[in-house]
Amino acid sequence: MTDWTPLFNEEEIKTRVKQLGKEISKDFANKDFLALGVLKGACIFFSDLIRNIETPLVTDFFIASSYAQTKSTGNLQIHYEKKESAKHKHVLIIDDIVDSGLTLKLLKERILKEDPKSLTLCTLLDKKEKREVEVEVDYIGFEIPDLFVVGYGLDYENKFRNLPFLAEFIPKK
Ligand code: IMP
Ligand code: MG
Repeated sequence: MTDWTPLFNEEEIKTRVKQLGKEISKDFANKDFLALGVLKGACIFFSDLIRNIETPLVTDFFIASSYAQTKSTGNLQIHYEKKESAKHKHVLIIDDIVDSGLTLKLLKERILKEDPKSLTLCTLLDKKEKREVEVEVDYIGFEIPDLFVVGYGLDYENKFRNLPFLAEFIPKK
């Protein structure tokens, strides 16, 4: 027995990532563009998304964590901090999933201190009903209900990131 049930298949993800890439290419054309991935969860989404963006860009990353098993701890830890300056850049933060909103809110506040020209947020998945802090997300792949999701970069205890599709994780009894 598996401990996951499929949610979005490879084809559905590919189609949506392509659409997001197209939109972002248009919005960031001719801009000094810094794309910031939030690892580890966004590793696959980030890689696929930037290959669907046609405008030139600079990449960098944060490695951050706030989750223990299937629950947010409400405490964001930054294990690696980007090296590229955000000053006067058009910055896009790319994350895998927004839950309480805390991760993106705190990262956004950090970057705003560097005086970027603009700051926008992109997430593959949005669990809107779980929001605890207000944060506006500009590009959303899919809105989902309150499920714990794995695959396509998302993990449960660092496992399942390699599933090529997105699935709901249901722990075995
Ligand atoms: P937030 O700070 O509560 O919005 O949590 C966001 C972070 O928690 C995401 O960037 C993920 O890394 C992780 N996370 C939240 N929900 C899930 C999930 O359903 N599966 C896997 N990771 C999740
Ligand atoms: Mg994440």
